[in-house]
Amino acid sequence: MSIEIRPIVPEEFDTFVTATYIGFGSPATEPNETANTKALCEYDRTLAGFDGEEVVSTTGIFSFEMTVPGGGSLPTAGVTWVSVKPTHRRRGLLTNMMRQQLSDVRDRNEPIAALWASESVIYGRFGYGLAAQCHGLKIDRLRATLAHEPPANGRTRLISRDEALAVFPKVYDNVRAEQPGMYTRSETWWQNHTIPEKEGRGGRFGGRFYVTYEEDGEPLGYARYRTREDDENYAPAGVLGVQELMSATDSAYAGLWHYLFGVDLIGTIQARLRRVDEPLYWMLADPRRLVRTPNDSLWVRVVDVPAALEARRYAGDVSLVIDVRDPFCDWTEGRYQLDGGPDGATCKRTDASADITVNAADLGAAYMGGTQFSLLARAGRVDGDADVLRRADAAFGWTPLPWTPEVF
Ligand SMILES: CC(C)(COP(=O)(O)OP(=O)(O)OC[C@H]1O[C@@H](n2cnc3c(N)ncnc32)[C@H](O)[C@@H]1OP(=O)(O)O)[C@@H](O)C(=O)NCCC(=O)NCCS
Repeated sequence: MSIEIRPIVPEEFDTFVTATYIGFGSPATEPNETANTKALCEYDRTLAGFDGEEVVSTTGIFSFEMTVPGGGSLPTAGVTWVSVKPTHRRRGLLTNMMRQQLSDVRDRNEPIAALWASESVIYGRFGYGLAAQCHGLKIDRLRATLAHEPPANGRTRLISRDEALAVFPKVYDNVRAEQPGMYTRSETWWQNHTIPEKEGRGGRFGGRFYVTYEEDGEPLGYARYRTREDDENYAPAGVLGVQELMSATDSAYAGLWHYLFGVDLIGTIQARLRRVDEPLYWMLADPRRLVRTPNDSLWVRVVDVPAALEARRYAGDVSLVIDVRDPFCDWTEGRYQLDGGPDGATCKRTDASADITVNAADLGAAYMGGTQFSLLARAGRVDGDADVLRRADAAFGWTPLPWTPEVF
């Protein structure tokens, strides 16, 4: 029997969520998580595969604006909830959903799509490239002496969830304005995804803490964290898990780490999804104590090459013909003349011969400024003269490196 893939209607949401949970290997849904998810559902962008009445595959999209190098932002399809039930795997269902989804993204004029992958083997074939990486951090709190730090004369203040919902978005938007890889969070998003009133599975961690860093009453940074006592050992042996630390200034950054390192009864501080270019490493007296575990984070798919390449800025002047190979979305295939620099760029189709030949996935990987073409060439993924690749790297590379501080 053929599988029909179509957007769901609100009455089908519960069946959709149950199928997603099963796809991820969980036999039962979690009520708080389901309610939070429902609040964010964009039904016309939420696809299910139906085998008769049964939902056997799922995917959805969140409509974001995502920051690109230089501070512009682009309408972005944030792909999520991808699953196929174990009974229906490896028969092309994901492939069909991806095809349908990406043509919808093109029709809506969203130049890029982005996602977090449960397994890094899945999405390259659909033209997604690894655009941002992240680090998990772990440090013995008693070894976390800071040897270098910018002056931080502000104050830290513990606040309630309600106040956090009022204060955090301003700081977040401030940081997002210049940070490639960060996306807009609506009020509903803050309420149901970033700081939901009722969280789903909290693991072994206890209550949540919200702290701001302020100067002259103005919030310049915040941290959200949870703690876990050690039942068997007395202090300081607990764990403090930083869920998010966001700072609009270096002083806020230093002030917040100072605060976290000063929380007593804690032996270990962990932080998830941290940026690769983390200043903390360079601030510590004993940097090796900061154990960093790398992971892939944001995967980017360029759906409209000229719109995407014209939206970002380039660190230096560049004039290149890029040949894009894209069997999965053939509308992007072809050669493009890119003329860019610090003030902007133009990108147009051309018949001129190519300077660089890339697959769509590798263009996605380099797009946010965190992956070098020359490195991709050394991995046998990109073709081009060493000299041209060096120039392309200098133009596409960006500071800060791309960072996406949250899984969606
Ligand atoms: C990942 C998942 C959605 C794939 O669905 P699917 O319908 O089996 O995928 P398809 O049949 O369209 O596979 C397309 C190709 O990708 C490969 N592939 C897909 N998922 C893969 C995986 N997890 N590991 C290895 N290869 C995979 C297939 O082998 C196939 O390769 P081929 O074209 O060379 O034959 C499904 O395995 C799943 O639900 N996994 C658990 C939930 C999950 O990880 N979701 C992703 C969240 S980001």
